Amino acid sequence: MRVLALESSCDETSAAVLHGPADAPVRESLVILSQDVHRIFGGVVPEIASREHLAAIVPVARRALADAGRTLDDIDAIAVTHAPGLVGALLVGVSYAKALAAARGIPLLGVHHMEGHLFATALDHPEATPPFTALLVSGGHTMLIDVAAWGDYRLLGATRDDAAGEAFDKVAKLLGLPYPGGRHLEALAATGDPDRFRFSRPMLNGGQQPTDSDYFDVSFSGLKTAVLLAVRASDDLDRDRPHLACAFQDALVDTLVAKTLRAAVAHGRRRIVLGGGVACNRALVTAMTTAAASRGAQVFAPSPRLATDNAAMIGAAALFRLGRGERDDATLTAHAAAPMPGLVDATARHR
Ligand code: KG4
Ligand code: ZN
Repeated sequence: MRVLALESSCDETSAAVLHGPADAPVRESLVILSQDVHRIFGGVVPEIASREHLAAIVPVARRALADAGRTLDDIDAIAVTHAPGLVGALLVGVSYAKALAAARGIPLLGVHHMEGHLFATALDHPEATPPFTALLVSGGHTMLIDVAAWGDYRLLGATRDDAAGEAFDKVAKLLGLPYPGGRHLEALAATGDPDRFRFSRPMLNGGQQPTDSDYFDVSFSGLKTAVLLAVRASDDLDRDRPHLACAFQDALVDTLVAKTLRAAVAHGRRRIVLGGGVACNRALVTAMTTAAASRGAQVFAPSPRLATDNAAMIGAAALFRLGRGERDDATLTAHAAAPMPGLVDATARHR
């Protein structure tokens, strides 16, 4: 089966062509158009994002077909992100996908964006398949998921406040870096001295037990405030900026690594799969790899193009669900928030 996948949930307009089987998908093309305009505003402006998607979706899809050397005649199904995300942005992809599927008389499938992130890494690393522990860290989400099999997910932990990427972006802003700040902060941190400042590790202490409500959850808003107070207290911010970036990143990375390893140990998983934009962070990947190796576990991180929002991951998730006979009809619509299919919420608040 060959699928044309579309993604327009936030500020990337993306299309990809993938050829199944679901357990060994081949990526024939991937086009990602990042909306640069939001940089001016220091954050994504939803109405502008929708308009940009509207202008881009047709040429981006055409380019993906051309890059794959295919036409719509070769496409067996259309997949599209339908949740979660900015509703106006999602609607552009969903409306276009519905029109294409109806015009061609081929199946349509709506894909949950976060399930897409779970499938992304396997496109780079065929061994990144279940069972595994997944850490999804993006601008909008921080989720620790036990993946027993594709479609069989347990949410073990999540953020109580800011997502990991959001914390990176907010702290980057505090330090005067451009939006989105994650990669700028990583670059600045690389020049800092890790011993100059130290922030406490949020929701992390050795005495925590698996039954504690904060054993797997994370929280980054206190860390952000600690950086803010340190910025205010500094008598020479130009001198301290790289050291503060380094101390912030160390605290966040240590926390994510510790919580992810707890999840892997609790479920006896030997593979850890990272996803989402923050999985581009080399300090995170390196620390996770080292810590996992000491417990005999292996870490798989996606390449930057597959870590951030892209349609290839939507196509990969779609091949799995289409293979199970799942289909949507013309009633498919966009949702700002929706439960991930197959996800059981096993976080402390739901135990
Ligand atoms: O997955 P993604 O592209 O979009 C969402 O679905 O949110 O993630 C974007 C997030 C942003 O917060 C960005 O700052 C962060 O990923 N990010 C990074 C790095 N590259 C991107 N954070 C830390 N280090 C990086 N190298
Ligand atoms: Zn995403």
